Formats: sequence, structure tokens, C-alpha cells
Amino acid sequence: MQFDIVTIFPRMIEAALADGIVARALQRDLLRVKVRDLREFTDDRHRTVDDVPYGGGPGMVLKPEPIFRAVDAIAKEGGAPQAVVLVSPHGRRFTQTEAARLAGLSRVTILCGRYEGIDDRVREGLATEEVSIGDYVLSGGELPALVIVDTVARLIPGVVGDEDSVADDSFSRGLLDFPHFTRPAEFRDLKVPDVLVSGHHGEIRKWRKRQALELTLDRRPDLLVDAELDVEEQEILRELMEQKGVAHGRD
Ligand code: ADE
Repeated sequence: MQFDIVTIFPRMIEAALADGIVARALQRDLLRVKVRDLREFTDDRHRTVDDVPYGGGPGMVLKPEPIFRAVDAIAKEGGAPQAVVLVSPHGRRFTQTEAARLAGLSRVTILCGRYEGIDDRVREGLATEEVSIGDYVLSGGELPALVIVDTVARLIPGVVGDEDSVADDSFSRGLLDFPHFTRPAEFRDLKVPDVLVSGHHGEIRKWRKRQALELTLDRRPDLLVDAELDVEEQEILRELMEQKGVAHGRD
């Protein structure tokens, strides 16, 4: 899979991709990320990427021509991208389901705007979708682009060492993840739950299911509406709801 990221701050993207799981995936060629400096697609001496807004008002607006040219160049190099994602607070909310959809594509272009403005013809005539990473305002699209790349990279086979750890990730089946512990078994009077030290695999599996369900029920009950639960989990959830006196929302 290849991401092409169009930005006026290429170093911001490159720095974030230099370490960690995504860096390793890039080294192993499980994923490609090409960072495109928007200024390379300008045609004036000052490499101008923005201009004053029509109609007046504060701030500057990113010009459309360099962005269209950048996507033309990307298409010329490797064929038209399957998705041209404009990151913007106006977009559809990015979720694990959206990440899984993008992970099924082979070439995705991400256009990073500046919050103050991007010429709307980019949205109208170039982007195939608009994505927001949450209901808050960032100063630009670079952090959202990195959030997308990181989330999608984890779903590419081989990127995360242990495939099971991705399957257990929070949200992957619509549940929050269970709590994790490592040695020592006791630290400053804080103890690892006995069941985890017991070595009883069946009991551990059940405890983890219960914890994931209880955490989700307490913190994010909204997720339970669409969660994919096996028969055992459905039974545990019923018990938990009875204990807590919660009405059965899924039945
Ligand atoms: N640009 C500024 N804020 C954003 C957000 N929340 N999501 C995506 N792009 C953005």
C-alpha cells in the first residue's frame, strides 16, 4: 500500500514517520509513504502556496493550482489514486471501520489543508472524500494525516508483530481492550490480578473478555450497540448488566 501526502510541512510528516512501528513497516517495504512538498508544485519565484480570500476577511487560503498539480503528478507516476482524502474538520469522522476500509486500498493520497482555509474547489473537484479525526480544530492536516497512516499501517498484515494483538485492539470488534500487566506481580502495594498469575488459560481468556466488556459498558456503552460478541461474551454482558442494573439495550 502507498500513501502520498501533500503538505506544506513535509518535515513534520517525515519526523513522525522516523520511529516506531510505522518506521519499521516502511523499512520492510510493507508500506510506502511519499511526502510531497506542495511548494514543489508552484510556478512562481516565491513558490507561493496561498493567497488572500475572495470576499475579504482574515487569513490566507491555500491556492488550488499547486494542489491539483501535485495530484496530477502522483497520478502520472503510479496511476490515479483510489482515494484522495482531504483532511478537514468538516469531514466524516475517522473510525477503526474507516481505517479498515482504507487498508483495503493500494494507493491513497492525503491532502493536508491549513485550518484557516483551502480553496473549496479542492474539495469539489479533486478530493474523493473528506475525513475528520474528531470534533476539535487543529491548525493543519498534518497530524490528521499521520493519525490515518498510523491507524491504517497497523492493519496491514505483518506490520504489527503479533496479529492477535491487532485483533484485540480497542475498537477492532467494537470493544475497548482489556487491561494489561507485566512483572513484577506486586509493586508499591499494587497487585496484578491473581487470575493472570495463575497460568489458567481458560480462566484468563474469560477474565479478559469480562474486563473488556465491563470497561466498555462503563466508559463507552454506545459501542456495545454494534459490537460483534460471541455467545460467551453475550452471556457475560447480560450478567454485567444485571449486576449493574442496566437495561438490556442490545435485545
Ligand atoms: N484539520 C483541522 N482540524 C482537523 C480535524 N479535526 N480533523 C481533520 N483535519 C483537520
